[in-house]
Parts: sequence; structure tokens; C-alpha cells
Amino acid sequence: MLPARERWELKRKAREAAARLEQQDEPPKAPLLLTGPTWFSFSFQKPLRGGQSNGTPFTINGQPLYLESPSLEEPDRADMEHEVKTAYTVWDCSLVLSKFLEHHSRSQPDSRFNIQGKRLIELGSGRGLVGLSAARLGANVTLTDLNSVVPTLKGIVALNGLEAGKSRTKSEGAVEDVVSLDWNKPIKIGKEFDIVLAADVVWVEALIRPLAKTIAAFCRPKTIAICAHQSRSTRGDAIFFDALEELSLKVERLPKNLLHPDFTKETIDVYIFKRR
Ligand SMILES: C[S@@+](CC[C@H](N)C(=O)[O-])C[C@H]1O[C@@H](n2cnc3c(N)ncnc32)[C@H](O)[C@@H]1O
Repeated sequence: MLPARERWELKRKAREAAARLEQQDEPPKAPLLLTGPTWFSFSFQKPLRGGQSNGTPFTINGQPLYLESPSLEEPDRADMEHEVKTAYTVWDCSLVLSKFLEHHSRSQPDSRFNIQGKRLIELGSGRGLVGLSAARLGANVTLTDLNSVVPTLKGIVALNGLEAGKSRTKSEGAVEDVVSLDWNKPIKIGKEFDIVLAADVVWVEALIRPLAKTIAAFCRPKTIAICAHQSRSTRGDAIFFDALEELSLKVERLPKNLLHPDFTKETIDVYIFKRR
């Protein structure tokens, strides 16, 4: 979690950038800074052996998921590009999407979202909360992000004992793979997936079309993509949804009452994309 002053500063810059964006037709010169994270702060820190969690842990199926530990090697973020830096924060969309998956695995209001035993890929995993949650809920998951993020992601998977091949309860799945996937480069993953997951991946305009193409590339006739999206600009949204339409994907915004009742937010929606 960023210090309060830094968070305040980020929010101020994002508000200014959003206001500038409203007034111009030209694309912004610099990426629009993300607002957030703003959720009630959970502790993602794994307590030291025998110790107690320092705060409210984030749980899936009653079990905490850990994204931080003194034993986890973290890269120096000082000189990182903005796009990569975002990978080291847990964004609100990932909480909404993780709890959405849990909600549907428990009460199954819509069987399309039952992920038990299914093969999933997550795009732009960041700290991996969504993919780890899916594995906890019984899916076989591939996490992806930029190459430089992969070592930390692998460490986080191990922190939770969710690597493939580890013995665990019958209902749990696993993280089968953590691989480098840059939306701007050709895709080298040969597998097919039942579900594509993505949380908070639409913000830098230059990345929106490559992202849409990547989603489309993984969408086979029966695949669905489930995407938690926080709107940051009307133009960014328009580029994204137009690109998906052009790529022959049908876009469905889910009604808020299909989300976990305790994990909804006015500015966040869950979308389903599917081949026409
Ligand atoms: C706002 S973060 C969201 C992270 C995570 N999904 C969450 O919600 O907490 C955006 C993610 O996109 C990844 N990303 C940025 N540029 C990318 C690219 N060209 N290809 C693939 N992933 C990229 C970042 O590394 C980061 O993990």
C-alpha cells in the first residue's frame, strides 16, 4: 500500500489528467494515472511463522490469500515505467472480480461463471489476486504479465502453496503456469482456455487495442472473457468497446446484482465478452 501522501498525490494527478482529457480531442501525451486503490484496506501480508495477521486478511472460501511477505523478493520500483509499476499494487477491480468468482462458486446464480475444473488464463495479473482466487476455487490457472513481473508473481504463488503438483484439498485447483505475455508482442501460449480473466487492464490508451486483440486471440467459440473494468475516461472506454466489436466479440455488461453483494462499486463493472 502506498503512503497516504503518495496516494493523495496520485489521485490529484489523475483528477487533473481526467479533466484535461475531457477538454481535448488529441490523445494524451502521457498515460492517464490511475486513481486508487481506494477499497477498505485488507492485509495481504503473510504473518511470520506462528504469528498473527496484522489486519483483516482477504479470504476466498474462508482462507486468506497472501500477496506480500518479507521473504518475497521484490524489484526496486524507483525507475520503473508507469505501466509496469501498476503491477505491484492490488487494484479494486481485482477484489471485485475475485469475490464475484467466489460468489458464483457458492450460490451459482449463473452457471456460466462456475469455474470448478475449468482452464483459465489471466491477463495483466499484477500481484495475481484474481488468478489465485480462481485456483482456490477449483480452476486450473495460467497467470500472465510482463516479463519483469513474472518472478514476483511466481513467488506469490509459492507463498500460497498454489503451485501445480502440490497436494491440497480436492476442491482446490492450481496455478499451472506463470508466463510472460506482453499484449504488444506475438502470443506464444499454445494452450486453449475456457475462461479469460482480466481486472483493471484498461487505462493507458496505447495499450487498449493490443489488449483487445489479446483477449480476442484467446476467445475460441466457447471461451468467455470475464473482465472487471473501472472506467477512467469515456474515450478510453469507447476505444476498448469499439475494438472488441471490430474483433467480433459480443459485449455484455452484467447487472450489479450478479456481483458479490459486499464487493461492488459504482465505478466498477463486470463485463463478459464472447465470440459472435
Ligand atoms: C492496473 S494493473 C492491474 C493489475 C491487477 N490485474 C489488479 O487488478 O490488481 C495493470 C496490469 O497490466 C500489466 N501490463 C501493463 N502493460 C502490459 C503489456 N503491454 N502487456 C501485458 N500486461 C501489461 C501491468 O504489469 C499490470 O500488472
